[in-house]
Amino acid sequence: MLFRSWQGPVERSWPDVVRLPDHVGVEHLLVTRHALVRQVLADPDTFRPDNALDAMTPIPVAALRVLARHGFRLPATLANNGGPSHPAIRGIVAEALHPHRVAALRPWLTAVVRERVGRLDAALGAGHPVDLYADLAADLPLVVLARLVDLPEAPAEVVKEFTRAALELFWAPVDADRQRVLAEVVGRFHAVLREFAATGTGLAGELRAAGHSPDVVVGALFFLLVAGQETTSQFLTLLMHRLSGSPEVLAGLHTGTLEVEDVVEEGLRLEPPIVTWRRVAARDTELAGTAVPEGTSLVLWLARAGRDPAVVTAPEAFVPGQRGSRRHLAFGAGAHRCVGAQLSRLEAAVVVAETAPLLAGVTVTRAPWCPDNLSFRMPDALVVTRR
Ligand code: HEM
Repeated sequence: MLFRSWQGPVERSWPDVVRLPDHVGVEHLLVTRHALVRQVLADPDTFRPDNALDAMTPIPVAALRVLARHGFRLPATLANNGGPSHPAIRGIVAEALHPHRVAALRPWLTAVVRERVGRLDAALGAGHPVDLYADLAADLPLVVLARLVDLPEAPAEVVKEFTRAALELFWAPVDADRQRVLAEVVGRFHAVLREFAATGTGLAGELRAAGHSPDVVVGALFFLLVAGQETTSQFLTLLMHRLSGSPEVLAGLHTGTLEVEDVVEEGLRLEPPIVTWRRVAARDTELAGTAVPEGTSLVLWLARAGRDPAVVTAPEAFVPGQRGSRRHLAFGAGAHRCVGAQLSRLEAAVVVAETAPLLAGVTVTRAPWCPDNLSFRMPDALVVTRR
């Protein structure tokens, strides 16, 4: 199974569509080429998003009981909603994350990041190692999200424990004991979200006022927390790691020959935090000559699409602004394309601009380690010291 798909060089000899050896009895068709991934994403009638949040390792009865005890339900809401209610729900969420609202955050966000980087710089100057994941990137997207969307009161550590447990429960190869533990963590916070969904203000209130059920409100908040803020903190960590090993890019930022926005796009292409995303065939069809029976799960290899030599000049190199750099599919495409794209781009741009001088003078003593996971990178640390 392709659980560590970001590791190792891309196999140029791989066919366009690969039948994956099954994992716990579930077969998948892996789509490897940019054009084909795009084609699937652009055709939601043939390739529906219904399986986007299905557990990669089917959840056994014991863990399902734990979830049920907490009243856990995850109806089709956003990413897994191929039904008629999707456009209206998406519209309300997109309004909360409107580019104008996002752009207005820049001065505040710059001040927050500058203050954090100042503290990290002082610690490095005093000879201490610092963890750029734990001390900068881990909770930043959550703090930012809370400026745009009313969320339940909860310490950041509790939210992060929940979001990382959800990414493991639904996208990792896990055994039954671990599934029970994860189900407890996910179920417990889901109950907090449910309570908030009934009375919460802001986005929750707007969804309710538009006639959406409490389950839909919970589903939207669940996805914003789990996929929205968690992916961004992963991306910030991976991007800072990539930059710390790219002195020529840091020099280009310093002299102004490189634009921060181009660095962010090239980072999304080369270090996407979501490496694959799923669709399911709604009818018998075919893809690049391969038969795709109705019900087939397709794993779209977004990370590989960003390194497709048919699209990018130097697929494995970190060259901001190169041909094809912006054609990555890190945010998906079509009707379900990420509505948080502008927000995560802004966060990444501010972090790149504010950390570049610091990154030019550090040595990485502990690179991020990423656990087995079908879709999410989930780096655990990025420890650096002053050179
Ligand atoms: C670097 C960070 C991020 C990446 C790489 C990313 C990636 C993705 C991907 C691949 C999808 C599925 C697209 C598809 O099916 O075509 C998606 C959907 C979505 N993302 Fe993001 N995302 C990021 C950050 C965020 C943020 C910060 C938010 C909001 C706070 C967010 C909210 C959403 C929502 C609501 C959807 C579902 C859209 C729909 O189904 O209509 N994402 N994202």
